[in-house]
Amino acid sequence: MSVTAVVGAQWGDEGKGRIIDYLASDAHVVIRCQGGDNAGHTVVNDLGTFKLHLIPSGIFHPNCLCILGAGTVVNPAALLEEMAELRAAGLSLDNFRLEQRAHVLLPYHRELDGLEDERRGAASIGTTKRGIGPAYADKAARHGVRVGDLLNPAYLERRLRLTLDSRNDRLRDYGRPPLELPTLLAQAAAWADALRPYIVDSLPFVQNAVQRGHTLVLEGQLAALRDLDWGTYPYVTSSNPTAAGLCQGAGLAPRHLDEVVGVVKAYSTAVGAGPMPTELHDAAGARLRDVGQEFGASTGRPRRCGWYDAVAVGHSAWLNGFSHLAITKLDVLDGWDELKVCVAYDLDGQRVTLLPDTPAMERAVPVYETVPGWREPTVQARRWTDLPLNARHYVERLAELAQTPVRFVSVGPHRDALIVL
Ligand code: GDP
Ligand code: IMO
Ligand code: MG
Repeated sequence: MSVTAVVGAQWGDEGKGRIIDYLASDAHVVIRCQGGDNAGHTVVNDLGTFKLHLIPSGIFHPNCLCILGAGTVVNPAALLEEMAELRAAGLSLDNFRLEQRAHVLLPYHRELDGLEDERRGAASIGTTKRGIGPAYADKAARHGVRVGDLLNPAYLERRLRLTLDSRNDRLRDYGRPPLELPTLLAQAAAWADALRPYIVDSLPFVQNAVQRGHTLVLEGQLAALRDLDWGTYPYVTSSNPTAAGLCQGAGLAPRHLDEVVGVVKAYSTAVGAGPMPTELHDAAGARLRDVGQEFGASTGRPRRCGWYDAVAVGHSAWLNGFSHLAITKLDVLDGWDELKVCVAYDLDGQRVTLLPDTPAMERAVPVYETVPGWREPTVQARRWTDLPLNARHYVERLAELAQTPVRFVSVGPHRDALIVL
């Protein structure tokens, strides 16, 4: 029995989905804890290739209960579309549950996200335009609508009446047509019909699983550098993608957590704006993007690529309390003569190893250590000793810098392309 949180240690897209798909084979429950359909979690297994946005990455294991937790913001239209795609691929959703306390991401959230981020102009965050910021803002301002409200039309109408006028005023400011209450209510009624069988109070399931000593996996969305409190604000998302944030979103006290797996890519990538000191604008960056196929799973945007940043991962290691690392995409580094690892930043002439706050981080210059690469392909490696010696040294160096032991090394997107230490 164990409760394991799986979190992104960098800027997202580290391969959380594939690690969770693997861990879920032994899990009773997987809970997606925060975020919304800004996520794109890719899972490649014998059933096919899947890009999950809201459905937890344990869904491929019929005996694993998959909960979309209270800390999430759920666009019902996007969820239903994803459910239809999974059904069309032959999957059952009998093991899926949607927590009644999760917030509903409404059409005006999505529209306002795009408009507001565009209005920021040069200071744009580069959000996924999925409505995440506006939905969490309404939640915090207590203007939100929750999933359970969909099942109570009279209550839902009262909630929407409270908010819709002011949201429509904002849409009109942008020259957009307002949304009509009857249209929204009709849409919500259709969502309620389709989602009713899945909507539950998930807390009894979680309590029961913990009390019986079952295995639970908490699925993180995004990553620590985009954490609302401790990331590179304002270039962050609107939830807390840390182990503590996951506990909160799942309805679990932190003392129930046994392990925290920090998923780290063997190099750095980010989508969206904000400081990324190791970003490469040269042929090396293009090579990482090409070989790693670094294009966003949700938006298709090319990801910014750069060398591994141990300062950034050290920041996440502290915030999350990693018990282990899962190092992904090691195969993407095959065939380089040498590799660089950022071990500190030069900040106005001072060497720093703690992550500076955003404006200072924008001035930070990476201090690199150069390490030897390896020529041999790693894609077939399934045991630690199958890896070339320099690849092992590289992994060991990342572990040393993060002061965290490595549990997993992945060398390809498929579930099986994994070395378990
Ligand atoms: P997540 O959001 O953290 O789940 O990660 P994404 O799915 O957005 O991005 C990870 C991408 O890398 C996906 O396209 C995965 O299929 C792919 N991937 C994951 N692990 C590996 C690996 O070890 N090697 C290679 N080459 N690709 C991988
Ligand atoms: P997964 O879970 C990578 C980025 C956006 C933007 C910032 C805020 O697949 O790792 P938001 O839409 O959340 O308001 O955007 O966060 N971002 C992601 N980057 N992977 C994701 O999800 C992301 N979700 C949001 O690009 O910089
Ligand atoms: Mg992703």
